[in-house]
Amino acid sequence: MDEDKKRKKKEKAAESAASLIKDGMVVGLGTGSTAEFVIRRIGERIKEDKIEVFGIPTSLRTEMLAIECGIHLTSLSEHPYQDICIDGADQVDSKLILIKGGWGSHTREKIVSYAAKKLVICIEEEKMVGTLNRPVPLEVLPYAVKTVEEQVKKLSGVPILRIGGNKGGYFITESGNVIIDADFGIIKDPKSMSSVLSSIVGSVEHGIFTNAAEVHVGNEEGVKILKR
Ligand code: A5P
Repeated sequence: MDEDKKRKKKEKAAESAASLIKDGMVVGLGTGSTAEFVIRRIGERIKEDKIEVFGIPTSLRTEMLAIECGIHLTSLSEHPYQDICIDGADQVDSKLILIKGGWGSHTREKIVSYAAKKLVICIEEEKMVGTLNRPVPLEVLPYAVKTVEEQVKKLSGVPILRIGGNKGGYFITESGNVIIDADFGIIKDPKSMSSVLSSIVGSVEHGIFTNAAEVHVGNEEGVKILKR
C-alpha cells in the first residue's frame, strides 16, 4: 500500500516536470523509476500535443524506453547544450542538494545534467530531508577498489562495495566499473563533501549533485515545486 502511494507521488512529480517540455526541446533523460514516468509522460505528450522532442539518455534502459515512447535520440556530441534535464533522486535536502546513483547511473546523469540549462528533479515527498544522510555512491575503476576504500576510511566514511550483479556478483555499471556506497552518516556540509569526494583518486564520479534548479515534490494532494 505504501509502495503504491509512493508510486503515485512519483507519477505526479513526473507529470509536473514533463509539463515543462516544449516543442523542439533537447532534453536530458534521467534513469530510474521516476525518470521512467517522465519519459512515458513525454511520450504521451508527443502524441497528444503533436510535439517533437530530442532526448539524450543517461542509460541503456532509458534509451530503449525513449525509443518506445517516440522521443528522437540525440547525443551530447550533437547537442552539447540541452534545454532541460529531468531526473529522479534518492535524497534531497532543504538547499536542493541531492544524492543520486541508486541505479548506478550517476556519472552519466551528472555529465548530462551539467550540459543542461536547467536540471529539474522529481521525487516523492519521503525523499526530502533537512540534512543528507544516505551513503554516497562512488563509481570506481575495478582495479582501484581497495585504494578508494582506504581513501573513504581516511575521510571517516564506511565503504560498502555494492552487490547486485547476476548470481550475487558485484554491481557493474554500464562503463564496466563498480560502485562503492560511502557512508558518512549525516553530511553537514554537502558542498565541501562534494569537492572532497571529487578528489578521490580512482573514483570516476560521486553521487552528490549541487546543480538542481527545481525539485518537483509529489505528495498526496499534488505537487510542490521548490526552486533554488
Ligand atoms: C540513478 O542512478 C539514480 O540517480 C536515480 O535517479 C535515483 O536512484 C532515483 O531513482 P528512483 O526514481 O527509482 O527512486
